[in-house]
Amino acid sequence: MKKIIITGGAGFIGSHVVRRFVKNHPEYQIINLDKLTYAGNLANLKDIENEPNYRFVKGDIVDAAFIQNLFDTEQPYAVVHLAAESHVDRSIVNPLEFVMTNIIGTVNLLNAARNTWKGDYTSHRFYHVSTDEVYGTLGETGMFTETTGYDPHSPYSASKAGSDHFVRAYHDTYGMDTVISNCSNNYGSYHFPEKLIPLAINNIKHNKPVPVYGKGENVRDWLWVEDHARAIELIFHKAKAGDTYNIGGHNEWKNIDLINLLCSIMDKKLGRAEGESAKLITFVTDRAGHDLRYAIDSSKLQREVGWTPSVTFEEGLEKTVEWFLANEEWLNDVTSGHYQQYYEEQYDNR
Ligand code: NAD
Ligand code: DAU
Repeated sequence: MKKIIITGGAGFIGSHVVRRFVKNHPEYQIINLDKLTYAGNLANLKDIENEPNYRFVKGDIVDAAFIQNLFDTEQPYAVVHLAAESHVDRSIVNPLEFVMTNIIGTVNLLNAARNTWKGDYTSHRFYHVSTDEVYGTLGETGMFTETTGYDPHSPYSASKAGSDHFVRAYHDTYGMDTVISNCSNNYGSYHFPEKLIPLAINNIKHNKPVPVYGKGENVRDWLWVEDHARAIELIFHKAKAGDTYNIGGHNEWKNIDLINLLCSIMDKKLGRAEGESAKLITFVTDRAGHDLRYAIDSSKLQREVGWTPSVTFEEGLEKTVEWFLANEEWLNDVTSGHYQQYYEEQYDNR
């Protein structure tokens, strides 16, 4: 059976990608490689953890010897690489951690793949999951395409840009079969409540202030996480070696408009009077270096791969609110820190 190492599979997007590959592809053995940082939560994969074509390996992509040993033992057919430090605000506080995980970790994986595949790149693939933030910021108009120049501004986006450049360099220099996709802002189930949408849902639920940076004028292009996971599955199977795809849902929202929409959905779901949740909106100091606007042109993906988003933002946001309200235990475990014991409780005794 072909083995695929999916890194960062215990995180938000990674858990959706792992689930999709495990359920749709019994022909693959999926190895979820994750360090279980604060962002990694194996409870995200409870529903598939006993599937015969799924395995979890705890490990750090920064540890080159460990990674090489894993590749030597498993001889993977392919890598789908999502493991990363992903939160812009944390990168402003601790840039070096982002350099280590996002750049050094990616190069360690590339080296291990190169050593293991030994030039046979016709039957192996290295897929790197990246972000639209590498392109920098847009003004009032325009969209990022695959040929937009890189212009990252935050330590997070600079580290992702660095990792993208290394992945391309391994294609151009060594002929490795690499693929990169750059996606816009995701939202949906299992989203860690440090990011805008799950943080706001959690705060509204508990009648706590909803922090909006600056004047809330910044624009993000939102994509339902399950549509991202489906795009990754399609690109993994259809892309040409060395290719790049932008992924986005043409769903541009000013932060303040998004938060107002979310407040009104929450009012309905929680049985509050219309306008009640919006009273929690609190404008706070802006993020340093805050990019004004992101918008993705995903026409190449739509044309060549046949992918289109399956839900509108309004539908996806409502589904997301319903998921968070129905999964109170998950949210409580994540906000209390209890989720970090899941590995010990479920895996240590196996
Ligand atoms: P996340 O923070 O939710 O999950 C990251 C996962 O990586 C966690 O499970 C964590 O434990 C693991 N990890 C971190 N450091 C590791 C290390 N050193 N070794 C092994 N595992 C490690 O992130 P996410 O939001 O799911 O993002 C996944 C990927 O998608 C990232 O590469 C990110 O840059 C990219 N991306 C995210 C978005 C988004 O909106 N969240 C959009 C576009 C691209
Ligand atoms: O564009 C893709 C990127 O989207 C991914 O590469 C990142 O991994 C992911 O975290 C996300 O980055 P953002 O910085 O855009 O997401 P975040 O949810 O942190 O912020 C969304 C917007 O909301 C942004 O303009 C900052 C603002 N914001 C954020 C938080 C956490 C607030 O106004 N208040 C907040 O409390």
